[in-house]
Amino acid sequence: MTTAIIGTGGIGSAIAHQLASGGETLRLSSADKESARGLAAQIGRAAVVAVDNRDAMQGADAVVLALRFSVLKGVIDEIAGSLGDKLVVVPSNPLTTDAEGHVSRVLPRGQSSGRVLAEWLPAGARLAMAFGTLSRDLFASSSNRSPEPAVLFYATDDDRAGEQVERLIRTAGFEPVKIGGVEQSDRLEVGGDLHDLVVGPAQARSLIATT
Ligand SMILES: NC(=O)c1ccc[n+]([C@@H]2O[C@H](COP(=O)([O-])OP(=O)(O)OC[C@H]3O[C@@H](n4cnc5c(N)ncnc54)[C@H](OP(=O)(O)O)[C@@H]3O)[C@@H](O)[C@H]2O)c1
Repeated sequence: MTTAIIGTGGIGSAIAHQLASGGETLRLSSADKESARGLAAQIGRAAVVAVDNRDAMQGADAVVLALRFSVLKGVIDEIAGSLGDKLVVVPSNPLTTDAEGHVSRVLPRGQSSGRVLAEWLPAGARLAMAFGTLSRDLFASSSNRSPEPAVLFYATDDDRAGEQVERLIRTAGFEPVKIGGVEQSDRLEVGGDLHDLVVGPAQARSLIATT
């Protein structure tokens, strides 16, 4: 299967490496063309660099928008005509950093980034909030854990998106666990109770069940 990855910075490149090592074919696109080209060169034949974000969608079964929250809406509008009923995976945290390095949430407390994303997407596109629960290094070091796989939590309102994102999560070397609908995405983001947790399936399910 083929996945487009738009944004090849910190988390996009880590996701690309894990998906490629699990056998996924990738189409990469980034504002930073050099980072997309360098990443494709590291990955080898499984990855091609697209001409632009729209071109990345050609032949892709799904897209990962590995972008800072502030640019998501613009990129969604750019690729909207190519989304159809494809899976859209968003790992982004709704955060911004000011000139002094102070980090703040761009949405009011209590407003779910997943709900906002769902409103930005065209009708038919299938949203899953996933692949952003672990910081990059933890994500890379926890994949393909043995004997018990590490969990990647995800949220979606759409059963088909759930099946598709579970396949991608397994391809990346993790066990998927659904926490609920996209309105619960604040549990996955920085500061959420499930963020940066490396747990196995049993502990993950008990965390979901008790909250
Ligand atoms: N890094 C992590 O450990 C981590 C973990 C989990 C979740 N996240 C979340 O994931 C999101 C991305 O984080 P990151 O650390 O990967 O950020 P990043 O390193 O800044 O990467 C973002 C990438 O998107 C590219 N980009 C910007 N505008 C674009 C556009 N219009 N079209 C295509 N590509 C564009 C950037 O290119 P330019 O550099 O040229 O602008 C950059 O390569 C954030 O919301 C973050 O909170 C990050």
